[in-house]
Amino acid sequence: MENTVVIGAQWGDEGKAKITDLLAQKADIIIRYQGGCNAGHTVVAGGKTFKFHLVPSGILYKGKICFIGAGTVIYPEVLKEETDNLKKENIDLSGLKISPLATITMPYHIDLDGASEAGAKHKIGTTKKGIGPTYTDKISRHGIKVQDLFDEEALQLKLDEILPLKNKELKEIYGLKTYSKEEITEICKNYADILAPYVCNDWQKIYNNALAQKKTILFEGAQGIMLDVDWGTYPYVTSSNPVAGGACTGSGFGPSVIKDIIGVSKAYITRVGEGTFPTELKDETGDKIRETGAEFGTTTGRPRRCGWFDAVVAKYGVLVSGLTSMAVTKLDVFDTFDEIKICVAYKDKRDGSISEYYPTNINTHKYLEPVYETHKGWKSDISKAKSYDELPENAKKYLARLEELMGVKISIISVGPGRDQTIFV
Ligand code: GDP
Ligand code: IMO
Ligand code: MG
Repeated sequence: MENTVVIGAQWGDEGKAKITDLLAQKADIIIRYQGGCNAGHTVVAGGKTFKFHLVPSGILYKGKICFIGAGTVIYPEVLKEETDNLKKENIDLSGLKISPLATITMPYHIDLDGASEAGAKHKIGTTKKGIGPTYTDKISRHGIKVQDLFDEEALQLKLDEILPLKNKELKEIYGLKTYSKEEITEICKNYADILAPYVCNDWQKIYNNALAQKKTILFEGAQGIMLDVDWGTYPYVTSSNPVAGGACTGSGFGPSVIKDIIGVSKAYITRVGEGTFPTELKDETGDKIRETGAEFGTTTGRPRRCGWFDAVVAKYGVLVSGLTSMAVTKLDVFDTFDEIKICVAYKDKRDGSISEYYPTNINTHKYLEPVYETHKGWKSDISKAKSYDELPENAKKYLARLEELMGVKISIISVGPGRDQTIFV
């Protein structure tokens, strides 16, 4: 396998972790490059279901190096819970490494996320894991980095600068409880204890060796292209860059080391939280997809909104992330469907014009109507198919049409949550 990025090509929850887990088998280093514990990544392996939030989905294989990269935000309390659970399952965590440059989600970030959502006229529907406030502080240069937790002098200097501002915001804008410096210092000590076993200060040596020895690197994205802060449905997005470019800024490996970029798309679309998507089905077909696909959030348990596959979105993702192929998951969810639709373009209800390009101004989405083509279902159980040839003709036709519309090959087809329910094309 070449150095590969795996990213969600829709609005998250595409089944990225299943694909990362499978590819991780052939990788030496797996790096989560952005996002935080807003991610909920499910891997079904050996009859067990693992739910990851921060730990890379490659951790289930012994002997792999699993980095939580500089572009991530880490809420130590969730990391502790996650690593404790993995230890209980006897998962070897000796390969888990955390970048000293990752940014810490502080308790006030959680408070601010909750309060800004509660008070907002137009809610984003965040996961309330402090993601937006943590990235805001990082960009405004008020972030606490992992390495600061281990440098008392640096930490105190930063807290002197940051804490009065945070307390002002907490108290005067949101009427929330403030934090004393002693309280935050104590919390930071606890965070340092949680992270200490994993902080990797010799990452430059590991990176150099990996490059010199041509080790295989797998970059694991969280969320999805349409939730990207620059390229997604802004402002209904997350606060990081899931797009392929984010794999470089978030990991510290340059673009020249990356060979393959695999987008992951469900055979349909889901979205959790607020914000439009043109193919959303608010009828019994949407309910049927949700029930058949068990579409409830891994992190928050919220029901996911469901709709038909949108080739306009897929093509947009291929463009802005330079996808070299697509993995299509959850094809089995359509096993009982008579008909399956694909959105091939949008019609603007104002003037009847048709466009195959994604309109980035989401304010115009209320005027859009998806242009669908209808495909016949295959009405049979494909969850045991082991090769492309074993798939029913109508499933092959559906996939071939997706490839044609997206302009990239489908390299992986997933027909169930298990590792063995995967077809490599
Ligand atoms: P991620 O965030 O992209 O890693 O995806 P999630 O873990 O949030 O959600 C994907 C869900 O679909 C998980 O429960 C997976 O176990 C499940 N899943 C993945 N691939 C397939 C598939 O091909 N078929 C079915 N039925 N379920 C799948
Ligand atoms: P994985 O990695 C699906 C959504 C939230 C909300 C928006 C902003 O499992 O695919 P945030 O808490 O990030 O500030 O919320 O982004 N969101 C996700 N939706 N899957 C995810 O992660 C998500 N992470 C964030 O629902 O709409
Ligand atoms: Mg998820």
